[in-house]
Amino acid sequence: MRHKHSDYMHWSKTQSRARFNLATSGVAPFPAHELPVDLKNLEINGTNDYGYAPLQQAIAGHYGVDPECVVESAGTSMANHLAMAAIIEPGDEVLIEHPAYGPILDVAQYLQANVKRFRRAEENGWAIDPADVRRCVTPKTRLIVITNLHNPTSALTPESVLREIGDIARSVGAFVLVDEVYLDAVYEETPRTAFHLGPEFVVTSSLTKAYGVSGLRCGWILAQPDLAWKMRRLNDLYSATPVHPGELLSVVTFRHLDLLRERARRIVEADRKLLRDFLAHQTGVSAVETKWGTTTFPRLVRGNTDAFLERLRSEFDTSAVPGRFFEMPDHFRIGIGANTEMFGEGLNRIGRALK
Ligand SMILES: Cc1ncc(COP(=O)(O)O)c(C=O)c1O
Repeated sequence: MRHKHSDYMHWSKTQSRARFNLATSGVAPFPAHELPVDLKNLEINGTNDYGYAPLQQAIAGHYGVDPECVVESAGTSMANHLAMAAIIEPGDEVLIEHPAYGPILDVAQYLQANVKRFRRAEENGWAIDPADVRRCVTPKTRLIVITNLHNPTSALTPESVLREIGDIARSVGAFVLVDEVYLDAVYEETPRTAFHLGPEFVVTSSLTKAYGVSGLRCGWILAQPDLAWKMRRLNDLYSATPVHPGELLSVVTFRHLDLLRERARRIVEADRKLLRDFLAHQTGVSAVETKWGTTTFPRLVRGNTDAFLERLRSEFDTSAVPGRFFEMPDHFRIGIGANTEMFGEGLNRIGRALK
């Protein structure tokens, strides 16, 4: 039977919520009424057969790339699906980081790829070791997939390592897919997109995680024009046209991106301070700390993590994502940047549950 579901996504939609919800991954929702937009200018239908030109230009302008390289998609979720489906044939080797965001693995399995893994080691700050990637590639490798920032740990992969991975991919004629949905949550010296590093790089992202407008479903793929067209043609199987009011609001959002980013930044930075204090005084969990990102991935030092999270939910009305969804059952993921009051009390409750 072909793989046709995502356990993580199902859990996230049906079981992740609690009064103190630390199972988030993105920043606080940005309220529509704070967006400087005159709703009289909204339209329902528009010219957007293969994307709405002003939105493609806005995305291209954000990165300094040619609009021909921009493929609109329904969030990073569909972006990842289109990118992988356009590149992979059944039986192709696809090399995916471990731990990984579940739906990336699910899509690769759905596409009947031969999935292989390379490890990000906790003792190495969850960094990618290019030597490990090199050991894993073969002439059959068609795609290498990473997230940058890494979900669940928020580890940042520097450009030098991305270049090495690009060299490895090129040596066997493979592509590198970099999911950058969290990259703009690096507020100082934000790295440029990996797309600039060479034609083997394909990048996916959206306005979801770092900007708080998930409901717009404004996602995209950056790919060389011929590959970009393959993705647009493939997307014809899934939808006739994008949702035009969403495209119009997304264009306005791009115009005011700094406003959304600064609002999110204040919450993320306040939460990170609380997290740092919490980890400094907690012996029950250990975590690699980062200066950026909206998730962290602590390890429970003693005991069973699933049982701990069950108790955290039933006795303390607090949720976090079980590490089993990232194939690391001793860990759990905590989200940063949604609501500082909730986050502080959630940490407090984790502390009490650990006692
Ligand atoms: C690494 C990664 N990629 C993609 C997504 C989905 O993004 P979107 O909401 O834009 O579809 C998520 C959501 O958690 C994610 O963590």
